[in-house]
Amino acid sequence: MTAQPNRNLDGLLQELAALARISAAEPPVVTRVVFSEADLRARAYVKGLCSAAGLTVHEDAIGNTFARWQGADPQLAPIGTGSHIDAIPNAGMYDGTVGVLGGLEAIRVLQSMGFTPRRSIELVIFTAEEPTRFGIGCLGSRMMGNVLTPAKALALRDKQGVGLEELRTQAGFSGPLESVALPSGRFHQFIELHIEQGPLLEQEGIDLGLVTYIAAPASLRIQLEGEGGHAGGKLMPGRKDALTAAAELILALETEALSTGAIDTVATVGVCEVFPGAVNSIPSRVRLETDIRDTDGARRDRVLDALRAACADVSARRRVHITTELVNADPPATCDAAILAVMEASAKEAGRTSKKMVSRAYHDSLFMARIAPVAMLFIPCRGGVSHRPDEYASPEWIANGVHVLARTLATLAS
Ligand code: GLV
Ligand code: MN
Ligand code: MN
Repeated sequence: MTAQPNRNLDGLLQELAALARISAAEPPVVTRVVFSEADLRARAYVKGLCSAAGLTVHEDAIGNTFARWQGADPQLAPIGTGSHIDAIPNAGMYDGTVGVLGGLEAIRVLQSMGFTPRRSIELVIFTAEEPTRFGIGCLGSRMMGNVLTPAKALALRDKQGVGLEELRTQAGFSGPLESVALPSGRFHQFIELHIEQGPLLEQEGIDLGLVTYIAAPASLRIQLEGEGGHAGGKLMPGRKDALTAAAELILALETEALSTGAIDTVATVGVCEVFPGAVNSIPSRVRLETDIRDTDGARRDRVLDALRAACADVSARRRVHITTELVNADPPATCDAAILAVMEASAKEAGRTSKKMVSRAYHDSLFMARIAPVAMLFIPCRGGVSHRPDEYASPEWIANGVHVLARTLATLAS
């Protein structure tokens, strides 16, 4: 095909900016937690754009949204593309949204060229890729891929103790959660456009990343129960300070991640809640949420085991009660060689440079891989910065991604 790329790049940039303004925080900060007022407004905005493009929109029981461009043969399984529009607190405006609005733009480019796909092309907007509300990432795609059962999903609560059932119902989503899981074959192939969230493409001056492999993420929640008391009256010997115990665990995790010697092992403690959180009170309770990832699942598991061993050691030495809960420990996913070959050829035809790379971030594609062949297309982001308000992808980078996505979709849907 001879694509006329980015029929309306300015329009796409304006849509990205408009979506960014739908936030619980002041610009440039984007905060859009699933089922919040901002999330619901953002969903309405994107659904409106999909309808305006002539796509047929429907939602499942957890709010995953499907916008379908009907192909010439509706009996054939569609080609899926898409990503997420929820955003962690204090985020930027490109994570996920480039795959959603860029995916929509790729469809509009093909429409404007008069292209008729043989297979339908379906844009998917996944519910809660981010773990902010329920502590587990990729809620919608995890359920779609039948990795998280309805029973386990129903046990999820947010920090205020409100359950998933109440929150999804309030957000307007109902129906049996069993219906969210999709069979293999429901999508013929799935391709996700996303910012790299790392520095390599920009550093190497390469237009596009062809993702071959998505790293294995895990999360362990740790609850520490010590003994509180007066910060002045209680002497140092014999204290059972839950926060100093937690500090040892945080450092132990860092040491374990570094000790693998592999650049691909990463570990983070992103949540540390301290009770009662008063300057003159010894912390009696601490909750840690940890995030451990690796391209090698077995090596990731060894770090997880070492963290559990550190919990036992710190608990015994400091006489602080420590319990752990494994939130998730997912295997990595391998991207489909046939889709990668089409993406590579599309990039070449478009005169764009590309390279194969791994994704160290997780994505909905990790779970779509359970039910369909998947691949991901990365564009650079400035300085590798992501999950921060200063996250940035240039118009040219976005245009390259949309162009090559459109070409790839056209080939896959023909
Ligand atoms: C996704 O947002 C991730 O944390 O990798
Ligand atoms: Mn993210
Ligand atoms: Mn993302």
